[in-house]
Amino acid sequence: MNFPFPKDFLFGCASSACQIEGAAFEDGKTANAFDYYSRNEQVDRFSGDLPDVCADFYHRYRDDIRLMKEMGLKAFRFSIAWARICPDGPDSLNQKGIDYYNDMIDALVENDIVPMFDLFHCDLPMWVLDKGGIANPEFIDWFVSYAKICFENFGDRVKLWSTVNEPSINVFGSYANKSNAPFIADLPLALKACHHMLLAHYACVKLYRSMNLPGKIGAVNHFVPYYTNSLDPKDEEATVRACDFYCGWWLEPMMKGVYPETVLCCPHISENMPENYADELASAFVPMDFIGVNYYGPGFVKYSDDGKLYYDRYAEPGLPTDAYGFRSYPQGLFDSMMFLKRRYPEAELYITENGIAAKREGDKIAPSSLNDAYRITYMRDHLREVSKSITAGANLKGYFNWTLLDTYEGYAGGFDFDFGLLAVNYETLERTPRDSYYYYKKIIESGRVE
Ligand code: NOJ
Repeated sequence: MNFPFPKDFLFGCASSACQIEGAAFEDGKTANAFDYYSRNEQVDRFSGDLPDVCADFYHRYRDDIRLMKEMGLKAFRFSIAWARICPDGPDSLNQKGIDYYNDMIDALVENDIVPMFDLFHCDLPMWVLDKGGIANPEFIDWFVSYAKICFENFGDRVKLWSTVNEPSINVFGSYANKSNAPFIADLPLALKACHHMLLAHYACVKLYRSMNLPGKIGAVNHFVPYYTNSLDPKDEEATVRACDFYCGWWLEPMMKGVYPETVLCCPHISENMPENYADELASAFVPMDFIGVNYYGPGFVKYSDDGKLYYDRYAEPGLPTDAYGFRSYPQGLFDSMMFLKRRYPEAELYITENGIAAKREGDKIAPSSLNDAYRITYMRDHLREVSKSITAGANLKGYFNWTLLDTYEGYAGGFDFDFGLLAVNYETLERTPRDSYYYYKKIIESGRVE
C-alpha cells in the first residue's frame, strides 16, 4: 500500500523551550514554573529531576539544526521562554534572550526549515505566578506586551505562531485539578483563568494582524476524540459533552467566539463562570488562522449521574499503551481530522504533536533504545491516517512528530521517558539517531508512507 503526501506538506518535529533548552539561569533568564517547582517536593509525583541542563539545546542548537537538516525536516515547532525575554516583570527586556532566539531562527531559515513558535508552553515565569498567574486579569496585558516583543523581533522570519499550547492541561488543569503550576484545585478560579487566557489569545491575534506581518496565527490544543461503546442516547450525549468540554472549551471560543452550550448547560459550570463572560467573549472575539492539534490517543465515555459534567471516562481494554500511559489508536487521528473538518470547514489544520515514549533507565543511552521498532510502527500507522485524512479532504498542512530530542517531561516525568528520534546521553550530552530518525528521513524524502 502507498499513502502519499502533498509536495508542500510540512513534515516537522515539535519540542519546547523548557523541555530541552536547559541554561535555566544563564544569560539573564530567571526562574519559570519548571525551574521552581522541580525543586519543590510537595508537587504530586515529584521526580527530583531538574531542568537546569536538559539536552542543552541552548548551546547546541546549531548542531541540532544540522541533524534536523540531515533528516530532511521541513519544519520545527518550538516555544519561546517568556522568562528569557522578560525576566523581571512585564516591562523588563533581556537582549541576550532576543539574540539567542534570533540566531536560532536564522539557523533554521538558513537550512530551509520553517519555524513555528508557541508563545506559552508550560513555562510561565515565576514573576507571573507570584502576581496571581493567569487568574489575575492583568495577565492579559502582560501576555500581549510579551507577544508584541516576540512579533517585533522574530515576526519577519517566524510565519507560524501559536499563542498557547494545550490550555486544557496548562490552564484549566493547572487551576482546576493541580495538573501543572500553580497546582490549584478551584473550579471558579480555573474558569476565570481560562477566560483570561482566551481574552489574551484574542488580543494577540488582533495585535498580530495589526502589525501586517507575513504569517499566520493560531493555537495548539490537545485534541481527544471521544467514543462510547454504548448505543444508549444518554451515553452518546455524554460523549459529545466530553469532547465539547475538553476540546471545545477552547476551540469553540477560538473559532466562533462562544463557549459550548452543551457544557454551559451543566449548573456546575454555569454557576461558576466569571461575570459577563458571554459579552466579553463576543466583543473581543476574532477567529484564528489555523488549529494545531496534539494527538496522543482517544477517550472513552459513559453517562454518569455525578451532578457535574455528567460523564465518566473509562479505559477501553485492548488498546496498546506506551510506557507513558498513552493509548495508541491511529484511527482516532483520522476521526479527529474529520471532526474538525466538519465543524470548522474553513480552518487550516496542523498536527502539532504526535509521538510515543519508552521508559528510560539511567542517564546514558541504553543501546537497545536505539532500535525503536515500536516507534516506527507507531509513526507508520499514524502517518497513514494523516495521508488518508488529506485524501478525504482535511485541510491539513503539516505533521509534527513529538519529538526531536529526548525530553524533560516536567515535575512528574522528569527524564524518565524517551520520546526522541535523537537519543540524548545526559552524561555527555551526545546525540545518537534512533532507527526512527532514519525511518522519518525516508518518509520525508519519498513523500509517502507504505
Ligand atoms: C504534550 C505536551 O505539549 C508536551 O509538552 C509533552 O512533552 C507531551 N505532551 C508528552 O507528554
